[in-house]
Amino acid sequence: MGIHVSIHAISEQVVYTILMENAQLWSKKKSLRQAVDKVHNAYSGRSLSTVGGHVAYDDVLNQAAYMYLYFPNHCQATNYGLSVLFNHSLFGNVHLDSLLSLASKTRALNVCSIGGGPGTDIIGLTMMLERFNVRYPISASVLDHYPQWCGMWGKIKQHIVNCAVNFVKYEVKDDIERKHISAVVNAHIFTFIKFISAVRALPESRLAIKTLLTWAMPGTYLFYADNRDGGQTIAFFKAVAGEAGFYSVSEFTDAVSFSHNFTVQDQMIHCILKNLFQSRSQKLIKMNFMLMKKRVETTVAAPVARRRRRGRRGKRKKKSLNNAALLA
Ligand SMILES: C[S@@+](CC[C@H](N)C(=O)[O-])C[C@H]1O[C@@H](n2cnc3c(N)ncnc32)[C@H](O)[C@@H]1O
Repeated sequence: MGIHVSIHAISEQVVYTILMENAQLWSKKKSLRQAVDKVHNAYSGRSLSTVGGHVAYDDVLNQAAYMYLYFPNHCQATNYGLSVLFNHSLFGNVHLDSLLSLASKTRALNVCSIGGGPGTDIIGLTMMLERFNVRYPISASVLDHYPQWCGMWGKIKQHIVNCAVNFVKYEVKDDIERKHISAVVNAHIFTFIKFISAVRALPESRLAIKTLLTWAMPGTYLFYADNRDGGQTIAFFKAVAGEAGFYSVSEFTDAVSFSHNFTVQDQMIHCILKNLFQSRSQKLIKMNFMLMKKRVETTVAAPVARRRRRGRRGKRKKKSLNNAALLA
């Protein structure tokens, strides 16, 4: 485990590498600026309470813009939120101990990051574990509409060790498949970071998220971090996760401030990055943080039992599992 350099340096180096690998992007500065504006607008103002802000992250320009504008901030916010919540006990780090006792059975901390983007949540979690001097390897599944984020992770992971991440295509509007269930049942901790605000307005999201979380094992943890403003996102999530058997262990709200120090040495690149990104960089964000845990006495076994019965009858395995049917 370990991150070699600062999170801003990772972000800059990754963006720099992308721009260098795609030399023609430099000549497309206008498109790059448009990408920065698009990504910025998607997560501000009215977009916070509507689904108007969908960004095509299969486009490397949009990925680069996200990496610069949000990746370092979200890593830091995740580290901060997790550190406070896991430390927030009169009796010592009971929840961290409990999480690590789950991990000790598999000799790795299994993470399932929903809408995890380029692996932001994993990096933030790694930073928190480092802070508490925990040295478990991480095995993570990132479920995201754009598994193409794995290209970005390929560049990020050069700065982090002992962490294996698998990117799985997941669209909240679609029925879940076995590959999603497999990631969920094996997870010790789930992360939902700035994801619910991106999908909450979709009519399917409520049932879809509840269905997915119903497969989570009793005793597993869930870390939620999202905007305080833009609607009752935390209330929505608490209700949905609650129906799937999760309860809030601890939560808090804070205004998290960010500063972006430019570390790139090359003066020309430095100026271009600064011009393109600085005015759009997020400076302050009011966020809700919550740690949840799945109740031990929930009836999570029901869908598993149904799958077994189907298998015994010798029917062909269905690839896609209907959300409503699963919860009927
Ligand atoms: C604001 S980003 C958050 C990414 C990461 N958790 C972070 O904090 O940096 C929202 C993520 O949700 C994904 N996403 C948006 N709509 C989605 C949908 N309908 N189904 C699945 N993933 C979606 C996006 O691809 C993106 O990676």
